[in-house]
Amino acid sequence: MRYVKLSQNCGLFVSALSLGTWHLPRLPERDEAGVFKVDVDEFRRVLRRAYDLGMNFIDTANRYHGGISPVPLTHVGYAEKLLGRLIKELNIHRESIVIATKVFGEMAPWPNGKGLNRKHVMWQIRESLKRLDMEYVDIYYAHHYDPETPPREVISVFNDLVRAGLVRYVGVSNIPPDVIVEMQMIAERYGYEPIVVLQYRYNLMDRSIERDLIPLARRFGMGITAYSPLAQGILTGKYVDPVERKWVIPRGSRAEYIQHLKEMFTERNLRIVLEVLEIARERCATPAQVSLAWIMHKAAELGVSIVPIVGVSNVQQLEELAESVNLKLGSDDMRRLEEVSAVRTA
Ligand SMILES: NC(=O)c1ccc[n+]([C@@H]2O[C@H](COP(=O)([O-])OP(=O)(O)OC[C@H]3O[C@@H](n4cnc5c(N)ncnc54)[C@H](OP(=O)(O)O)[C@@H]3O)[C@@H](O)[C@H]2O)c1
Repeated sequence: MRYVKLSQNCGLFVSALSLGTWHLPRLPERDEAGVFKVDVDEFRRVLRRAYDLGMNFIDTANRYHGGISPVPLTHVGYAEKLLGRLIKELNIHRESIVIATKVFGEMAPWPNGKGLNRKHVMWQIRESLKRLDMEYVDIYYAHHYDPETPPREVISVFNDLVRAGLVRYVGVSNIPPDVIVEMQMIAERYGYEPIVVLQYRYNLMDRSIERDLIPLARRFGMGITAYSPLAQGILTGKYVDPVERKWVIPRGSRAEYIQHLKEMFTERNLRIVLEVLEIARERCATPAQVSLAWIMHKAAELGVSIVPIVGVSNVQQLEELAESVNLKLGSDDMRRLEEVSAVRTA
């Protein structure tokens, strides 16, 4: 495994690939609420293998369940609980891993049961630590933009959590760039902890952060964690029949139960997957490895740390993805991928 410095704003090193817990390995059975049950044994094997492969960086969120999205209130928090339990069971030393979690989404039906206000955040960090059975989290993200809470309140409460020893570093996710700038300026002015990392969607099909967030990250020395780096599995090539050049849905894949995935089955995206398939064939690699290696090469080209966060359904998928850190793409590969996926101007 390679390790990268997460951002210019901190000295933290993380594996070049992070393991996500939004969707966990699942069983075919559903629970009484109709939600897929998580395959705990397979997730235990995934965590063990990830750790043995040197992946020290794990991403979760207070709302994640692992078998469903969006998550009903009856199921929130399960991914954190399971993660905490398995880390203990596997005897993984707390200090050897970097745990990121998030706050914002609804956790209770009452008026302050969600959001980024001080009351909710102070409550949820303690709940996350209980679920994870840990004394602190390494990175705490504001998961989404909360227009009801002033940026000053958000950055000030996150600063307090670092000072209280409950959180090591501050991150933000899915927040508009102008609000991030405001938060960072407030942090600088008042000597608060800076925003160290931004978490946004980034993959060959969605390069929109290259327009604003990547320049912003560079300007303020922040790193980036890229979610859905395989476009939820589409960039593995498994949704394309390369002979017929058309979309297909394999049995047991995420698209069978997440309806909105099919919205990405466009002509443009088909061209991207076909090009990735071709480069993978030429490089004796897999399309998933090419897609992840492309992000790592882009990070070097753009002069910013970008760590892809991958999800996996089993150990085989994990092992395939972990190999991507060793894949070198040539300048011709990068040019072809650039051409087929160029950022669209709105
Ligand atoms: N901040 C946010 O708002 C936000 C939003 C989304 C995600 N995230 C984070 O980012 C993480 C990753 O997101 P994601 O799950 O969308 O990532 P992704 O890596 O784009 O997609 C992962 C899915 O692709 C499929 N897959 C992976 N490797 C494969 C392989 N080798 N062969 C075939 N299929 C393969 C699996 O789905 P199937 O096997 O089920 O088809 C897997 O669950 C999440 O777990 C979460 O931690 C954050």
